[in-house]
Amino acid sequence: MKKEMVSLVGVSKSFDGRKIINNVSFDIVQGETFVIMGCSGSGKSTLLRLMTGILKPDEGRVFIKGKDITTVGPEELDEVRKSFGMLFQYSALLDSLTVNENVALPLKEHTKLDENIVRIIVKMKLSLMGLREFQNHYPAQISGGMRKRVGLARAIALDPDIVFYDEPTSGLDPVVGGVINRLIMDLSKKLFITSVVVTHDMSSVFRIADRAAMIHKGSVVEIGTPQQIKTSDNPYLRQFINGSPNGPIDFFREDLGIFEELSL
Ligand SMILES: Nc1ncnc2c1ncn2[C@@H]1O[C@H](COP(=O)(O)OP(=O)(O)O)[C@@H](O)[C@H]1O
Ligand SMILES: [Mg+2]
Repeated sequence: MKKEMVSLVGVSKSFDGRKIINNVSFDIVQGETFVIMGCSGSGKSTLLRLMTGILKPDEGRVFIKGKDITTVGPEELDEVRKSFGMLFQYSALLDSLTVNENVALPLKEHTKLDENIVRIIVKMKLSLMGLREFQNHYPAQISGGMRKRVGLARAIALDPDIVFYDEPTSGLDPVVGGVINRLIMDLSKKLFITSVVVTHDMSSVFRIADRAAMIHKGSVVEIGTPQQIKTSDNPYLRQFINGSPNGPIDFFREDLGIFEELSL
């Protein structure tokens, strides 16, 4: 049996008395690419924040490689966090730092490696992402797709065994989005990284997922392989796949607002 890298057991979270994540349970095993899909406002980013320990659940447990991160102290949580990478929705690069310096950040923060070694590691990660020529550029001087790749180079700076991605292809054109999906798959297949990808982009689901879960209003409504997802008669899934305004997902969602814009 494969090792469980991320496990959620009955996880719930409310904000202002509103249940945003409702009794979610699933396991993500070593090496798999697990996609969490759902409409805007369904709770995807919140779920990602719960899985990475940025938020604590009101109920339930989150395990990373068998360790319950809902009960550990801040130091131990930091230690767990070092073993995974995160690619945020808006890349979250520091504008005042060069590409090189952005990728070096986690190495400087979490290791005592020699300056020369840091330089070599950064160069390696940027080469993997096809960005070596841009190492001295600032984020504002490169395209959105390139910024995502810098974010990705930074996410893998510490050689993580799990990477969490929030909407890695959103805001990119289909070709650049395809490049990012290819990189996610390369990291997964060549470096055996376990990938947890949040997206509302259906085409990404079928390209990269080993398994996918659909969430709606904070609950998992379906979970399965792309083939199972494609052929499921679950009405939520059918509506989501077809992008139809008619179905159980209500079209006028008043909460498509500020948190989508701000979400990390
Ligand atoms: N910190 C917060 N405080 C209050 N409401 C929040 C907070 N974070 C998220 N929400 C709400 O939770 C819901 C789900 O948000 P989010 O997880 O960002 O959805 P998604 O990533 O699927 O678009 C939204 O209605 C959002 O307004
Ligand atoms: Mg989001």
